[in-house]
Amino acid sequence: MSKLYETYCKAYRLNDKNDEGFFDVVGDIYNSDEVQSLKQYEQHLEIDRLQHITSVSFVAYVTCKKFGLDYRSAAVGAVMHDLFYYDWRDGETGKWHRLHGYKHPNYAALNAKELFPEITKKETDIIRSHMWPLTLRFPKSKEGLIVSLSDKYCATRELLYSLNKKYRERFLRDLEGISYE
Ligand SMILES: [Fe+2]
Ligand SMILES: [Fe+2]
Repeated sequence: MSKLYETYCKAYRLNDKNDEGFFDVVGDIYNSDEVQSLKQYEQHLEIDRLQHITSVSFVAYVTCKKFGLDYRSAAVGAVMHDLFYYDWRDGETGKWHRLHGYKHPNYAALNAKELFPEITKKETDIIRSHMWPLTLRFPKSKEGLIVSLSDKYCATRELLYSLNKKYRERFLRDLEGISYE
């Protein structure tokens, strides 16, 4: 099992033995009602938005830590990168949902500022640029690039989990086998 995949698996069962300080950095934001409310929205088929942002932020956090980068900004930006309060598949709420892929980074950045007024410019850019290359807004920091790539990595695994029975069975077995020592 690769270290990256192991980190991704751990994001499904974070606890005080394996969170590597993650909640010390983002605990207040992560445990807010706003972020916790994301559990009600589907993100990638069978995976809800709270699990998605947990996976992306934990993977980005651990990766940045490993490379000696600013893991705090990566985790703070990532934990709010999809902070919008609607189901993007809901066709009844208006045409603008069709442009969701392009627009939601800006909605998330506005919601993040409201939830966490101390947010830095760098963290805001991480949120605004996470949909690169779709939005053509290239991240201004290495941490932003890592969050954007982590988002794609997690989204791919979430879709595989939802659509491929064999993948799902293997993933669930792998989760059982994760060691927390
Ligand atoms: Fe997104
Ligand atoms: Fe995302």
